Amino acid sequence: MKTNHLLTLAVIMMAVLLAGCQQKKNDEYTMKTEEFGQFEGHDIVLITLENSAGNIVKLTNWGATVVWIEVPDRDGNLDNITFGYEDFEGYLNGDPYFGSIVGRYANRIANGRFTLDDVQYNLAINNEPNTLHGGPGGWHSVVWNYETFNDESGIPVVKFTYDSPDMEEGYPGNMHIITTYRWSEENELEIEYECTTDKKTVLNITNHAYFNLKGAGNGDILDHELQIKASAYTPVDANLIPTGKLTPVEGTPFDFTTPHKIGERIDEDFEQLILGKGYDHNFVLNNTEEVDAVVYEPSTGRMIEMITDQPGVQFYCGNFLDGTQYGHGGKAYNYRGGFCLETQHFPDSPNQDGFPSSVLEPGDKFVSKTVYRFSAK
Ligand code: GAL
Repeated sequence: MKTNHLLTLAVIMMAVLLAGCQQKKNDEYTMKTEEFGQFEGHDIVLITLENSAGNIVKLTNWGATVVWIEVPDRDGNLDNITFGYEDFEGYLNGDPYFGSIVGRYANRIANGRFTLDDVQYNLAINNEPNTLHGGPGGWHSVVWNYETFNDESGIPVVKFTYDSPDMEEGYPGNMHIITTYRWSEENELEIEYECTTDKKTVLNITNHAYFNLKGAGNGDILDHELQIKASAYTPVDANLIPTGKLTPVEGTPFDFTTPHKIGERIDEDFEQLILGKGYDHNFVLNNTEEVDAVVYEPSTGRMIEMITDQPGVQFYCGNFLDGTQYGHGGKAYNYRGGFCLETQHFPDSPNQDGFPSSVLEPGDKFVSKTVYRFSAK
């Protein structure tokens, strides 16, 4: 009897103690910085943010990159749903911009040149015959400075900064870039950009995360249901450069104003799908509602809501993935195994008078925010 009492007491005390730990954990976010690698004498770190629900985002100062996003499905099973590599070396061997920040000009600039105030600027051609994603030495492949702290509400914040020198990759002006990530209690990954320049230049900055809501490396994304609040898109030529037209999506396989499975119309005999090898196009956002795009994956119930103040989003569905890149857990990232929603100015804007201007003047500050909100239902 006495032993029984003692045992019961011990069990109660353990339960109280465990509840205490749990309580403590529920009140706190955690943030951890560890070594990820070395690059030309610079420390590359992996920063882990864990919110109070136990959901995790990992970032690195290499390319200010999102490495890992671990969120629950409708039954509470956790999985990482973004593409990344197990170790830093992966990022140096043919990485197609997995999760990185892309600049100074995300997307394509036709023939690698543009003119500002009668001066022609020539850029590196890294995607024949165009410049893609800021050139080979763009912001995805540089070491960013970083700082970690908690904001007033206790939310973990990682602030990456980079000073892009005048004429880096052919672009004029010394530019100072701040990319700030916040990982909220509600599983919102907020990305905020602030850029300034000392000379007139052009700018288009985005994050190039690939998502698969079944879990990164778990099959293709053709069953994901997509909605984009865009009544028009910018069709392209054979080099994936916009023709300059804003074409209504209505009546075409580009109409995602109501949800459609990504794979539903992707193989239709439609010129723009043939040119893009699938969807690889800029959608002209209506910017009239809070949420600009929603993706839902029926088997897991996972969902992304994307919110941005940018005029466009490049919906790219991994048409160039070929299974030669291996990510977390050695999983191959296969053809159409992930999709991107790259919020942006329109491709090739520096050469397209009819598009919203991507020019940044000295004295002005470019400020923009994109949020990916993760949930399950
Ligand atoms: C996307 C682009 C694609 C492809 C990809 C990287 O942003 O739209 O055409 O270049 O990046 O492989």
